Amino acid sequence: MKIIAHRGASGYAPENTLKAFKLAIELGAKDFEFDVHQTKDGILVVHHDYDLKTTAHKAVRIADLNYEELKKYNVAAHFKRDKIVQHIPRLEEVLDIIGQKSDWLNFEIKNDNNVYPGIEEKILSFLKSKPGLFDKSIVSSFDYPTLKRFRELSPRLKLAFLGHGLSTLFLLPAIKKAKAIGAVNFHMALRIAFKLNVSRIKKAGFRVCVYTVNEKKDALRMNNIGVDGIFSNYPDIFGKWELKG
Ligand code: G3P
Ligand code: MG
Repeated sequence: MKIIAHRGASGYAPENTLKAFKLAIELGAKDFEFDVHQTKDGILVVHHDYDLKTTAHKAVRIADLNYEELKKYNVAAHFKRDKIVQHIPRLEEVLDIIGQKSDWLNFEIKNDNNVYPGIEEKILSFLKSKPGLFDKSIVSSFDYPTLKRFRELSPRLKLAFLGHGLSTLFLLPAIKKAKAIGAVNFHMALRIAFKLNVSRIKKAGFRVCVYTVNEKKDALRMNNIGVDGIFSNYPDIFGKWELKG
């Protein structure tokens, strides 16, 4: 089972910052997840929310600012343990840190209501701009139309269906939607990651990754029910424990 560094080593350093990705590498992470947005002037950046309220305590939206303005904010303001200022990183800078040393990269594209028109083309050309990057990358999004546009643009791109507000009741329709776009992975919340649900998704032919798993007991349970990967803010969650697979 993969332990995927969720927003970098975000349990130990401010999420989605260069510091969090550097630390994840130091902890031996090989698999990564990060959230991608686009600035007003078309720069791809890594951050979770559409605005900086939570991270920098400022009510500004990424889509409204050019990168030069955006990078003035301290996106580590929320991280009490750490007084060091961190800027919102460009996707390029994150890849400079984790690109070579990683095995698997999950680009989660935040694009509800197509707030960043054309982001799909931009991501695709980014993936093709570095040797080996396209093949080890998988793209996910909570926004289904965004995934559909990715599929239309590239038949080869690996896609992950990302279940939004998913419940056991809506699992079968979600599996259908995931199949319709030729997804290879199915990413789901820990809340509904029960053995029966995981088996159903796996039987339908998908690899299953579960977010966000920060407790060892949950990580062990996920491993035992056959989950292929967990997104964790603690990429060293198991320490030296031995795992199957
Ligand atoms: O990609 C898995 C997970 O990160 C999805 O949820 O809100 O943490 O981006 P969120
Ligand atoms: Mg995410």
